[in-house]
Amino acid sequence: MNEIADIGYGRQFDGWYDRLFPKDGAAAGVAKKIADLHPDHSTGTLEFGVGTGRIAVPLSGHVGRVTGVDSSEEMLAALRAEPGAAGVEPVHGDIRTYTSDERYGLVYCVCGTLSMLLTPEDQALAVRRA
Ligand SMILES: C[S@@+](CC[C@H](N)C(=O)[O-])C[C@H]1O[C@@H](n2cnc3c(N)ncnc32)[C@H](O)[C@@H]1O
Repeated sequence: MNEIADIGYGRQFDGWYDRLFPKDGAAAGVAKKIADLHPDHSTGTLEFGVGTGRIAVPLSGHVGRVTGVDSSEEMLAALRAEPGAAGVEPVHGDIRTYTSDERYGLVYCVCGTLSMLLTPEDQALAVRRA
């Protein structure tokens, strides 16, 4: 399975995702918490389901460049337009099948992204990729 399953997430949420999940102090607090959990910032950081960078952008301020995988081109386009987006490398991919030669000290997945994979088998695929 190599195709990227875009479920239309970015198109469904276009214009109001950031009102539903604001880039506020709570997001900054989660980013700080993840940075504190990171075993070694120099070993790299990968987010599965990066969206518009709500967590990855502030996290990059703590740990350096974050690679963010997402299946929605629209969400990645919104991420690229964010202030601070230079801290995140957007990658168009499906977290069930994503592979990379890079190794990351921390791979994380937040905000219910795993629950968007609708079967235990698909969730297990993503966890295995991580
Ligand atoms: C609830 S949003 C979370 C976005 C971001 N992590 C945050 O905290 O704001 C879920 C994201 O997962 C992405 N997504 C859903 N299924 C995916 C899949 N199979 N592969 C990659 N990304 C996926 C969606 O496009 C969406 O951007």
